[in-house]
Amino acid sequence: MTRLIVVSNRVTAPTGAGGESVGGLAMALAAALREYSGLWFGWSGRTTPEFTGQLTVQRAEGVTLATVDLEEADLQEYYNGYANKTLWPLFHYRQDLTAYDRSFGEGYGRVNRRFAETLAPLIEADDLVWIHDYHLIPLARELRALGVKNRIGFFLHIPWPAHQLMVTLPGHKDLVQALFDYDLIGFQTQEHVQAFEEYVLSEAGGTRLEDGGMRAYGRTARIGAFPIGVDAEDFAQLTRSEAARRTFDVMKAHTAFRKLIVGVDRLDYSKGLEERFAGFERFMADNPDLRREVLMLQIAPLSRDQVEAYQEIRARLDALSGRINGEYADIDWTPVRYVNKTYRRDQLAGLYRAAQVGLVTPKRDGMNLVAKEFVAAQDPEDPGVLILSRFAGAADQLRQALIVNPNSPEDIAEALKRALSMDRDERIARWKVLYDNIVTEDVTAWRDAFVAALSGARETPTPEDPY
Ligand code: F6P
Repeated sequence: MTRLIVVSNRVTAPTGAGGESVGGLAMALAAALREYSGLWFGWSGRTTPEFTGQLTVQRAEGVTLATVDLEEADLQEYYNGYANKTLWPLFHYRQDLTAYDRSFGEGYGRVNRRFAETLAPLIEADDLVWIHDYHLIPLARELRALGVKNRIGFFLHIPWPAHQLMVTLPGHKDLVQALFDYDLIGFQTQEHVQAFEEYVLSEAGGTRLEDGGMRAYGRTARIGAFPIGVDAEDFAQLTRSEAARRTFDVMKAHTAFRKLIVGVDRLDYSKGLEERFAGFERFMADNPDLRREVLMLQIAPLSRDQVEAYQEIRARLDALSGRINGEYADIDWTPVRYVNKTYRRDQLAGLYRAAQVGLVTPKRDGMNLVAKEFVAAQDPEDPGVLILSRFAGAADQLRQALIVNPNSPEDIAEALKRALSMDRDERIARWKVLYDNIVTEDVTAWRDAFVAALSGARETPTPEDPY
């Protein structure tokens, strides 16, 4: 069987049900690799005074993990810098937060080179190499320069921005050209595919090929949408675990049988948390009679806290949640519970099941797997309602959710009212379609579709193709 090598910036040992919820990408990759005798390569999350390329290798739940430490300057310029102060805000339509600093680009190039030099000796002739996310766009180019001829695929977990936004990035041409060193370029949604194609057609003089590929910069690559999923049945099963049941019971007791509205997001400005709080506040202002019947729990573990924009959104949310509670709380009731802790997956499963409403309202999101896990955790006989932003990739598939504009507190308030008063038949009917979708388009289907496309890509290299 062909070996699969997965590469991502962050590598997290799969720890099963009791593991911390570490973000969609890590969970998906752990699930995707479990069935391959695969290798997962990336950053250890640690820094070292001087980069040595020394690998730390460990096995966890059938997956081999190989990680390297990076230097402090790498962390600042590559991870906090180019990845999270330049590409992340730009790709999430936050040009106002996008910083361009020459050292960021240099650090980004350096780390991609270092990754390539450390990874190349591990790659064997028939391996498929699958590289993930915006941190590592130039990695295939660096591997090619070292003579790696294997099939290499790239999957972008975050949105690909509209053409006119992409061209605001200094060095955009070089970044896009680097993508053509991949044999397959995968995006979350058709919208992202179209935005990419539009860029290539108009900026790079590229052409579309009949098989769904594109030709540009003297090279061809297949392009496609591969919407990522969750391990839906596994997550549904988790609701039966002891930890999930305990969390469920605790929540029921603590909400005193009020209706629970739940949101779980990394603390990130792309997640629309301010507008979400404002939407809940609007709901309370418009519905004084329903006010004390609900409780909103927002879990928002801290993320990328060395980046100023993240410190700022944190301070604003602290103030906003405090202000809402100051205005509406009573001696025996607090409307907003705002928690900056990380919870285990089995606890989240219990929490989602105890909730009447899942509130997932990012301003931009590649996919959003919380939306899918919320659906997976519901009681089929009495499911909760998902409120979902139209700007999450998941909205393409989860159409029976209540779809909202996350920029509009009014829209969110109305959807809350509708969700909280929806009768059981309608909730069941909507949930069934959603659940079927997440089971059919689960993480295994995502992996298999990508791997099949990558295996089939580049069967007949063109004469100009040096690899
Ligand atoms: O899904 C997008 C993503 O940036 C992943 O690449 C990443 O692992 C996850 O979000 C969490 O972010 P970070 O690794 O910066 O903590």
